[in-house]
Amino acid sequence: MRLPPAVKMVEVGPRDGLQNESAALPISVRIELIDRLSDAGLPAVEAGSFVSERRVPQMAETDQVMRRIRRREGTTYPVLVPNMRGFEAARAAGATEVAVFAAASETFSQRNIACSITESLERFSPVCDAAAARGIAVRGYVSCALGCPYEGEIEPARVAAVAERLVTMGCYEISLGDTIGVGTPGRAQALVEAVAERVPREMLAAHFHDTYGQALANLLAVMERGIAVIDSAVAGLGGCPFAEGASGNVASEDVLYMLNGLGIETGVDLDALAAAGRFACDRLGRDPASKVSRALAAGRC
Ligand code: HMG
Ligand code: MG
Repeated sequence: MRLPPAVKMVEVGPRDGLQNESAALPISVRIELIDRLSDAGLPAVEAGSFVSERRVPQMAETDQVMRRIRRREGTTYPVLVPNMRGFEAARAAGATEVAVFAAASETFSQRNIACSITESLERFSPVCDAAAARGIAVRGYVSCALGCPYEGEIEPARVAAVAERLVTMGCYEISLGDTIGVGTPGRAQALVEAVAERVPREMLAAHFHDTYGQALANLLAVMERGIAVIDSAVAGLGGCPFAEGASGNVASEDVLYMLNGLGIETGVDLDALAAAGRFACDRLGRDPASKVSRALAAGRC
């Protein structure tokens, strides 16, 4: 088993996590959560999104969040932007990295961002151009990479085609989203191999939700295929508001515990990370979904 010596952990809890919690947190709490996560040593903390407030009220006022977080050297704070309007707002709020989000499923694309895959790419192209002109990095997502809540199984070739387009536009990294957490290790590896035919695997990241409890196994499987960037959400917060039944992203604490056990470098402090997760859960009035967090709290380490 050949595994990467180091993994970059991309924390998506303050965006992907909170966007699907029924309670919208006040921005002071969102800001404190982001600050705690960057203090834990995370190299990337997704800070919010510039989307319709009517459709995703939990991400309202991301501009204020961006203006008030304490930016730690060594941490980036990407934000989601669906179009030029979102990009301009993100830029005005001081974003140095944005993420565009396409899908490999037409139906999901329509439900999520109200346009076809082709139309979405047409919207992202000027975003990528404007970002390049201003030195802003762009990350690309491909949702439904291992299955769609409306269309079922998705052919890896469809994911690869969208991923390649995003790279051609200028995305520096492609995050493969198992939006509804239906993947299993063999399919996750097959996906990586199919996409790697069109996009260098060093440019790929794994963004796995844990709906069926497969996320850690899937991550280990794709690390064996050269993936060294992992998205996760502290305390396993969230899901996706446009994919009913999807549970949260794989919990960051669980990923970090596994990576620590494998001797893989991350630069992230587990106790500080778990404390940030408990802080968010206290404010949300829920328990952490992370087993590692619960074990640590019970003193079982
Ligand atoms: P649209 O094409 O205008 O169509 O917006 P719409 O009918 O869906 O939305 C219309 C409203 O959005 C209008 O306002 C527009 O002005 C407004 P209203 O008349 O209702 O008051 N609008 C905007 N507002 C703020 N910022 C903007 C913006 N653009 C238009 N930039 C749009 C298309 C994408 C904006 C809209 O459909 C939307 O906001 N959708 C929500 C998308 C979203 O945030 N989804 C969750 C994130 S994706 C995800 O979780 C998957 C991921 O984690 C990976 C994975 O797990 O696979 C990334
Ligand atoms: Mg997601």
